[in-house]
Amino acid sequence: MPIKNICCLGAGYVGGPTCSVIALKCPEIKVTVVDLSKDRIAQWNSDKLPIYEPGLDDVVKSCRGKNLFFSSDITSAILEADLIFISVNTPTKAFGNGKGRAADLKYVEGAARIIADVSKSDKIVVEKSTVPVRAAESISNILIANQRPGVAYQILSNPEFLAEGSAINDLLYADRVLIGGEDTPAGRAAIEELSSVYQHWIPKTNIVTMNTWSSELSKLAANAMLAQRISSINSLSAVCEATGADVSEVARAVGLDSRIGSKFLQASVGFGGSCFQKDILNLVYICESLNLPEVAKYWQQVIDINEYQKTRFTTKIIESCFNTLSGKNICIFGFAFKKNTGDTRESPSIFVAKTLLDEGASIRIYDPKVEQNQIYEDLANSVICTPPEEWRPRVSVHSDPYSCSEGCHAIVICTEWDEFINLDYQKIYSEMMKPAYVFDGRKIVDHQALLKIGFHVQTIGMRL
Ligand code: NAD
Ligand code: UDX
Repeated sequence: MPIKNICCLGAGYVGGPTCSVIALKCPEIKVTVVDLSKDRIAQWNSDKLPIYEPGLDDVVKSCRGKNLFFSSDITSAILEADLIFISVNTPTKAFGNGKGRAADLKYVEGAARIIADVSKSDKIVVEKSTVPVRAAESISNILIANQRPGVAYQILSNPEFLAEGSAINDLLYADRVLIGGEDTPAGRAAIEELSSVYQHWIPKTNIVTMNTWSSELSKLAANAMLAQRISSINSLSAVCEATGADVSEVARAVGLDSRIGSKFLQASVGFGGSCFQKDILNLVYICESLNLPEVAKYWQQVIDINEYQKTRFTTKIIESCFNTLSGKNICIFGFAFKKNTGDTRESPSIFVAKTLLDEGASIRIYDPKVEQNQIYEDLANSVICTPPEEWRPRVSVHSDPYSCSEGCHAIVICTEWDEFINLDYQKIYSEMMKPAYVFDGRKIVDHQALLKIGFHVQTIGMRL
């Protein structure tokens, strides 16, 4: 039977955009996105959506109230759904067994329990969250243990590959859609039903089906391999700085090999975002649990190099400024973990800001999409060695880059927002303390032009 009614548990960065695109492309399907957070649902129903994502506003506006609904009534949405996405958060465990590495599945478990409590008809339950291998088995155990008579479940794995900042495009033109399920008649039928939803806009040849465990592991593997490329080029950026080679030239030369490819070879201050670190730590934990210490060590190194890169960058800033930041004003351009998003989860900017504060600097922050409250919250949550009453007066958040950099000793570029490329750096220079420094953690500005103005410039992976 074709799917008529979809419910999504979790109205976050994945649930919101994914279901909005499904609603856009499947006008005959009713899509209801629910969340435990009433605030988040209220924002999805308002003019200012809870997340910034290019193109998202238009998609939501064209479907909301027609076949796309955001609701706090979780029970009703589950009751009427044929297919339920679990798109809840799966953070790293903060305490207990596996603390700091294993994925915390309490929200996934909570979602499974509420589905079991409420459901009165057959459901296809789709794991959209990124989970450890064999998590579908745990979901299935909860559903079966609490099953009402006559209610049947099929569990599918359908990991999401969208990247923030390009989510709508990634959803509309996905390289592939992955569906894992049981190799039984009922399992194959469920896979076919979910596949038919995606076939409204994704060519059938791009919909890949496989066994559930392969699908779950493929998601962790894809994120680990993407992050590994960044750590690889970042490790080489250190070699470039020591030898006089230029990491952009090396990346270009290497990427022209069609077996390697040119994407994801941009050396940077380090990768951030809610996924890479969490998912690799989870993979490391799984490998250790499976008694595969060599494999665990291999993937752990991707994280270690990322920490090394962030530390290398901040050390460079401190050493260039005569090894003391006490009493100096440092301007940070960009607080989001990448451009075109307001998301700051695991943003390298947090590490940079924290380190500079601990060195005694005053910091001034500008980001076009991150709210002031979010910045203060992130700083308070990161381990700041100095007590809050000591660091808070040394942080200010600005609404434009010019007021932010005025009177500063240095500018640190942490996010690659396009607008940072074409600022009037002559004007900025004239209003900064001298010597004036630029530390470009994203390799986006014209370094020769800045040197000509009079700036001292340092960047990643090349000597200037
Ligand atoms: P998020 O924190 O933005 O959203 C998750 C939402 O789920 C929250 O609003 C939370 O309140 C809600 N929730 C938790 N338990 C619930 C329940 N029982 N019922 C209803 N709502 C519930 O997280 P996200 O960034 O959207 O990520 C969701 C999952 O997708 C994670 O597993 C993540 O690893 C994965 N993922 C994320 C991205 C990304 O770019 N953010 C990309 C691919 C995959
Ligand atoms: C990532 C995956 O790309 C996506 O497929 C998955 O579904 C979720 O995790 P996301 O974290 O949203 O997406 O953004 P991504 O574009 O992968 O960037 C992650 C981090 O790596 C950012 O901090 C980015 O600036 C950095 N990065 C990316 C680099 O430093 N260099 C690169 O070449 C690419």
